[in-house]
Amino acid sequence: MEILFVENDVEGGKKAFEILKKGIENGAKVLGLATGSTPETLYQEIVKSDLQLTNLTSINLDEYVGLGEEDTQSYHYFMNDRLFNKKPFKQNYLPNGKASDLEEECKRYDEVIADHPIDIQILGIGQNAHIGFNEPGTDFDVTTTVVNLTESTINANKRYFDSIEEVPSQALSMGIGSIMKSKKLILMAYGEEKAEAIKNMIEGSVTKDVPASVLQNHNDVVVIIDKDAASKLSKKK
Ligand code: F6R
Repeated sequence: MEILFVENDVEGGKKAFEILKKGIENGAKVLGLATGSTPETLYQEIVKSDLQLTNLTSINLDEYVGLGEEDTQSYHYFMNDRLFNKKPFKQNYLPNGKASDLEEECKRYDEVIADHPIDIQILGIGQNAHIGFNEPGTDFDVTTTVVNLTESTINANKRYFDSIEEVPSQALSMGIGSIMKSKKLILMAYGEEKAEAIKNMIEGSVTKDVPASVLQNHNDVVVIIDKDAASKLSKKK
C-alpha cells in the first residue's frame, strides 16, 4: 500500500484527481465510483477540470434497497447531482435499488462488472472498516449481494435522512471479490472517526472482521488520509 498523508479533504481530492487523471491518460476506461462525503472533493476537482469522460464507463459500488434515481437520498441521485450531470460519461452503471427481484439484480450487476473490468476503483471506508457496503464478517470472495446494514453504518449515514427510521436497512453492494479485481484502488479517509478503521486496515491482520484489511493483499492500492484519520497509526509519515 502506498500511503499519502494530506492536510485535509480538499488536498486529498486534488491528490486523488491527479492519480485518476494520470490513469485515464494511460488508458483507464472503466472507473469504479463511491458515494458518501469522502469522494465529494475528488468529484469537485473532476467537475472543474477539463477532463473529458465521454469515452469512459462508470460502475458504482452500491445503492440503497427501495430508493431510485428520483429519491434525493439515493446514491443514484447523489452521483447525478455531484458528477454525472456535470461531466457526462459514455455510460453509468449503478445497482437498481428498486428492482423487483433483488437476487436477479445482483446477477445483472455481476455481469455488468464482468463485461467492464474496473481499471481504477475509488473507495471510502466505513467507521467499521466496510468497503462498499461489505460489512464486517463478509467473505472476501463475495460478488454483488443484498446486504443488511449494521447499526454502525445506519448511524453514520442517518445525517443524510430526516430521521434514523428513514435510513434503509438494506443495500445492494458490489462484493469484495469484485473490488479486489480492480486493477488499481484509491481509498480516501478523512476525520478522526475513521482513525480506528485506518489503523486496523493498514497495521492489523487481514481478517473478515476488518473488511478493508483485504486491501493488504492487492498490489496497487493508494491510501489518501488526513492527519485525523492517520492519528492512530504507529507510523505517521
Ligand atoms: C459508498 C460506500 C461506503 C462509503 C463509506 C464512507 O458508496 O461504498 O463504503 O465509502 O460508508 O462513507 P463517508 O464517505 O460518507 O464517510
